[in-house]
Amino acid sequence: MNVNIPFFYYQREYKNIRADLQKAAGDVFASGRFILGDHLKSFEQQFAQFCGAPFAVGVASGTDALTLALLACRLKPGDEVITVANGAYPTIVGIVRAGLRPVFVDICPETWLMDSKQIAGACSKKTKAIIPVHLFGNMVDMKALSKSAKTKKLIVIEDACQAHGGILDKKKAGTFGRFGCFSFYPTKNLGAFGDGGAIIMHRQKDYNALRQSRNYGQSDRYNHPVFGLNSRLDELQAAYLSVKLKYLKRWNQWRSHLAHLYREHLKKIDEISMPCINPLSRQTHHLFVIRVKKRNALQAHLAKQGIMTLIHYPIPAHRQKAFLGLGYKAGDLPHTERCCREILSLPISPFLKPSEVRTICSLIEGYYKKNTRS
Ligand SMILES: Cc1ncc(COP(=O)(O)O)c(C=O)c1O
Repeated sequence: MNVNIPFFYYQREYKNIRADLQKAAGDVFASGRFILGDHLKSFEQQFAQFCGAPFAVGVASGTDALTLALLACRLKPGDEVITVANGAYPTIVGIVRAGLRPVFVDICPETWLMDSKQIAGACSKKTKAIIPVHLFGNMVDMKALSKSAKTKKLIVIEDACQAHGGILDKKKAGTFGRFGCFSFYPTKNLGAFGDGGAIIMHRQKDYNALRQSRNYGQSDRYNHPVFGLNSRLDELQAAYLSVKLKYLKRWNQWRSHLAHLYREHLKKIDEISMPCINPLSRQTHHLFVIRVKKRNALQAHLAKQGIMTLIHYPIPAHRQKAFLGLGYKAGDLPHTERCCREILSLPISPFLKPSEVRTICSLIEGYYKKNTRS
């Protein structure tokens, strides 16, 4: 049997909102303005409101959002930033590009997210910031984290690139720290048709600084009082994102429905574990992740049936060749390393059907029935 289920249904999404997208593109072309215009202004206001933050600044990617947020903190070269190694590689790129040094703490074996209990032990005199990553769309325990960060006087910058619309204790993802960073990479819960990102924040001073630093550090034409990058969310992407933002709450609810279906089916299979979810939180279900001992064999079996799965992520950042110079060895982050060996992402997206989730689950069930018998 070949069921042909992709990881993400771009075509179904496009078909659903085609007319809105075409109108949005037409408006941008007719305006004759493609950079830093009204579509960006309007999207930034809508996104800030969606996130429950006073300000949002659109930038060129999630990686740039992290880099620019860190640069705005005006830390010294070589200062240390605590984060996790099982997250997306670009989080670390953002830290290094801001001239800072990543320091990794292990994950909590139950949630597979940053373990706040590890923070105090990872701090040195140079530790100045912490980046919790709401990986898979699951919220890090921000209450415990904020307490440790306050004790150690660390600036908190949330990597909310997988958590658009996540809520913990009635607060939205990205609003717990000084900055919240988002990616609009096409597969994200709110995805552009190309690259894009945003930073949300509370302080007017940070807002002013970031509006300059994403645009060559320019205050007004020909004047550059501070150093900055070229990192702007363009008008076309902003217009598309405004269209998609209207659907985001509904799409997140649908993901949640599908995730519930997955959980109900897969909890019966002893070989599979799933992350513990904080009951005070609303997840965005960006990814539906499971863990199994022989991950590659299950992935190959599903691929043979036409089901596309992915791995987020197979190599932890501290074991990436590019970062071996940081001095970490295999075994330094045991829970992280085990998670990376076992994790597998099953398809989830707003246009996946419940019947497709059931098909995936019964194929997994069949696989384990056959393989535990033999
Ligand atoms: C957790 C996380 N952080 C950072 C990024 C970087 O975002 P971008 O690809 O937009 O630079 C991503 C997206 O890939 C991500 O998932």
